[in-house]
Amino acid sequence: MKFHDKSSDESTKVKLAVFQGYIRAWLPVFLTSSKGVKVKSVNIFDFFSGPGEDSDGNPGSPLIIQDEIHNYCKINSNLRNDVPVNLIFNDIKKENIEKLKIALDMNMCEKSCCNYSFFSEDFTKLVQEWLPEMKKYNNANLVIMDQFGLKSVTPTIIKELLTCGKTDILFFISSSYIRRFIQEDVIKEKFNDIDPSQIKNIEYKTIHEYICEYYKNKLSEGYAFLAPFSIKKKANIYGIIFASKNLLGLEKFLEVCWKIDGKTGQANYSIENEYMWHEAGQGDLFEDDTRFTKIKDFEIKTIDYIRTSHPNNKQMYKFCLESGFSIPKANEILRKIQTDEVIKVINIFDNSSARKGAFFLNNNSDAKVRFEIS
Ligand SMILES: C[S@@+](CC[C@H](N)C(=O)[O-])C[C@H]1O[C@@H](n2cnc3c(N)ncnc32)[C@H](O)[C@@H]1O
Repeated sequence: MKFHDKSSDESTKVKLAVFQGYIRAWLPVFLTSSKGVKVKSVNIFDFFSGPGEDSDGNPGSPLIIQDEIHNYCKINSNLRNDVPVNLIFNDIKKENIEKLKIALDMNMCEKSCCNYSFFSEDFTKLVQEWLPEMKKYNNANLVIMDQFGLKSVTPTIIKELLTCGKTDILFFISSSYIRRFIQEDVIKEKFNDIDPSQIKNIEYKTIHEYICEYYKNKLSEGYAFLAPFSIKKKANIYGIIFASKNLLGLEKFLEVCWKIDGKTGQANYSIENEYMWHEAGQGDLFEDDTRFTKIKDFEIKTIDYIRTSHPNNKQMYKFCLESGFSIPKANEILRKIQTDEVIKVINIFDNSSARKGAFFLNNNSDAKVRFEIS
């Protein structure tokens, strides 16, 4: 039985929900005429498209992309009409592309303003052919790479894609296979600088985070923002890695992830650290808590950050996102420690107390307030 002849399992549904959520958040950034970012064209690449749907007719990534664009156009009257939307689908198997054309055709909207292109090539070759177009100044690119396994999307490719202007990347990778087969030549060749003894010692459930960190380290320091979302299927751990040079992209990705996982924003299973508080040196402070949760850890780190750095709202915005927290979640935590009078927020302009809950954590806000310990 071929992969697409099976119906989607829970883990595939989670993966597609992350893709869908991100597409939904990404489109308005470039297609809304009033406040969107002005670009020449919008390109969405689905480099491992598959045939469009599984055996039960559940939509795969291409149909999700098409559907999200339709829905967005339907409900928005203030669309940019002058920005072409190019949808580029590829699958190495010709039969998948033939099926995909039919599936997309059945759902085509009557306006037909999106431009569809189809390819049946090896990803590694096709991505090189498209790079010049992606690099064009003022093109916005969303690149989805839903590979099988782990071999096609290397750190080098991510680095190349990130040289293109406004480019956000979502890719899938079978992280636990890298750990399991690190001694095999084919894996060693791709991930030659992973130390086999180190990866074997990684706590299994955090393996996808480790792989995301590996990709991050392969890019130069401060080069891009990366974030993982781990997905468990039976004993295996897979996941999505998001990569972008733009903090707004990271903000949108994390918002999608926290909607799916309200505890850590990071996985479809329990990924929290199970150190006891005393092991983390926090036992005296929080005696009633026995688990070292990601939210509590963030709370402590934020208080520490405020104590040592007195950040303004722009710095706090970056800190929260780089700590893997969505802005709604970060606001909630900041509100709590403000209400508990652990921190205070000061207007930079005149050093007065800021309105309660006014943290100005957004991508285009100026420095308006400063965070201090009470
Ligand atoms: C995980 S499936 C994609 C599923 C699809 N995104 C969906 O949501 O239904 C991976 C696809 O990549 C294709 N593929 C495998 N190797 C490839 C390569 N080197 N280049 C392009 N496509 C490839 C396979 O034929 C398969 O359809």
